Amino acid sequence: MIKTSYYQDLTKMNTFGMKVKARCFMEYDSVADLVDIEFEELARPVLHIGGGSNLLFTDDFKGTVLHSRIDFIEILEDCQQISSPVLVSVGAGVVFDDFCAWAAKEGLWGVENLSYIPGEVGASAVQNIGAYGVEVKDVIHTVYCYDTVEEEFVKFDVSECGYGYRDSIFKSPEIKGRYIVTHVVFALSRVPMPKLEYGHLKDAVESSGNELTPSNIRNVIIRIRKEKLPEPSVMGSAGSFFKNPVISQEHFARIEAAAKAEHGADYKVPHYDLPDGTVKVPAAWMIEQCGWKGRRSGGAAVYEKQPLVIVNYTGEAYPEEIIGLEKRVTSSVKEKFGVDLHPEVEHI
Ligand code: EPU
Repeated sequence: MIKTSYYQDLTKMNTFGMKVKARCFMEYDSVADLVDIEFEELARPVLHIGGGSNLLFTDDFKGTVLHSRIDFIEILEDCQQISSPVLVSVGAGVVFDDFCAWAAKEGLWGVENLSYIPGEVGASAVQNIGAYGVEVKDVIHTVYCYDTVEEEFVKFDVSECGYGYRDSIFKSPEIKGRYIVTHVVFALSRVPMPKLEYGHLKDAVESSGNELTPSNIRNVIIRIRKEKLPEPSVMGSAGSFFKNPVISQEHFARIEAAAKAEHGADYKVPHYDLPDGTVKVPAAWMIEQCGWKGRRSGGAAVYEKQPLVIVNYTGEAYPEEIIGLEKRVTSSVKEKFGVDLHPEVEHI
């Protein structure tokens, strides 16, 4: 079934809580419905949203917003041999964390570190969501889509999706909006494969005293996320507002020398050396060093526990206030570190 409404309030459909409307809003609940939609005739532009957890609406939306309610989780292949992957097909409209909860309950490994990330399965495959040392591409097997240009169903093997850090071919300017994800097949595992190398995750899991199961790791991850990140139902945000920048080793050496001069010779700048010789530096650290942690600007604020997140502090923030704060943070980081921050959140 396709449900269409006009001048639809989107406040509850974007986790930032921007009070905007869409000229046309269409929600469909089956793959077959997509064939019935006359894409050529939709009010333009067309935007397909998931949980609206990675978007900043900067104004009312003049075109059509589409939303999938394709909602199933189905085991395709499970030959019960411990070493074989368990292929699970999941509808694009399933809340990603509902899938993580289901996998944990089934005792399947692969998505436990991605627990409690807001958003839906379709968007997870577009954005290549990631947390605690795992990216969703690590467990994606195939992405099934509807091609709105050729009006046919197509599938992409994970190797064809062009996955990078929070990136995929589905985000590339040439084909953005062309393919609508209908469902994703994940390859999960019955073989224990805990990934605990990120930060203090291992300590946190060990100190919980529980055995290593997807369910117990999921609980630890949820606890960490709740401690650090704002609960979308309590305070609007879109999770990380910025990507973590990647810089050259020379540039990092200059930043490190300046930090040591400022904080003392023993000071350690958090960073991750990447295989290609470049260095990823947490944007959170740079923003904090610029003094933004917890600072408010009108209805917007830099979140006090994780400065990578910009929040709708009052619940009444205008898009302009969020964007104003974004610009001020970006220019301070540029001035102090010579680093360009790029938003992770998509501005609509
Ligand atoms: N840090 C600070 N000050 C702070 C917080 C963090 O200096 O107040 C530094 C610390 O050195 C810390 C480092 O930043 O070790 C990294 O912090 P964290 O582990 O919280 O991760 P992040 O790099 O800031 C990324 C993702 C998050 C994901 C976490 C955990 C991006 C843009 N963000 O954040 O994803 O949950 O790792 O894996 O890559 C999201 O995408 O919406 C999101 C929340």
